Amino acid sequence: MNNYLISKLTLAISRRTFLHRSAVIAGGALLAGPGFAAQQNCRPTESEIIGPYYRFGAPFRARLAGPDEPGDRLVLTGTVFSSDCHTPLPKALIEVWQANHAGFYDTNKPGNFTETTTFHLRGMLYTNEKGQYEIETIVPGRYPIPPNLPGLEKYAGLTRPAHIHMRFMESLHVPVTTQLYFKGDPFIANDPWAGHKPSLAIDLKQDGKLRRGVFDVVLARAL
Ligand SMILES: [Fe+2]
Repeated sequence: MNNYLISKLTLAISRRTFLHRSAVIAGGALLAGPGFAAQQNCRPTESEIIGPYYRFGAPFRARLAGPDEPGDRLVLTGTVFSSDCHTPLPKALIEVWQANHAGFYDTNKPGNFTETTTFHLRGMLYTNEKGQYEIETIVPGRYPIPPNLPGLEKYAGLTRPAHIHMRFMESLHVPVTTQLYFKGDPFIANDPWAGHKPSLAIDLKQDGKLRRGVFDVVLARAL
């Protein structure tokens, strides 16, 4: 083997060793970081339609449901991460809105986004210094899509799986509007939205009288 081939071979082996070590180091960092759960499939949280029941102006609160609200109590927690799935985002603004346990929103005027409602089961909140949030609410009920909604006419009457609407905003990142679903809901499979986005369905665990769910979110960095 001439000197040229030997030097090329040595370079190739060195490069392979470097890449292997880099991968090991990167893997170790993934295991050590707080965002490990999200990093296994690191990509921005999928978006969903805003739906006909969004209203702007909900009060700042993390407790959406009072003690007398019918339904199964739900504590929803999570962390909002930057696009590396590792860096938490403090002061990210979260908007959340949902139906009650029977599938009714606080308005019977779907598609009227400027209506001022009682803002029942709606709220806004910020993530804390660690990018975390906690929302106290109830498990929402399912509901059929109302008739004559612009753009959704062909889905009228279709029962949607239980879901919670959420929007996440942070100044250096691309906002995302999405919906959160619950694994095991038989209405997910045929839903035109949830059926294609399994990443948006979470497990609920029973904790005494509470159900607990975790929904971590990843926002793409704005360039
Ligand atoms: Fe909805």
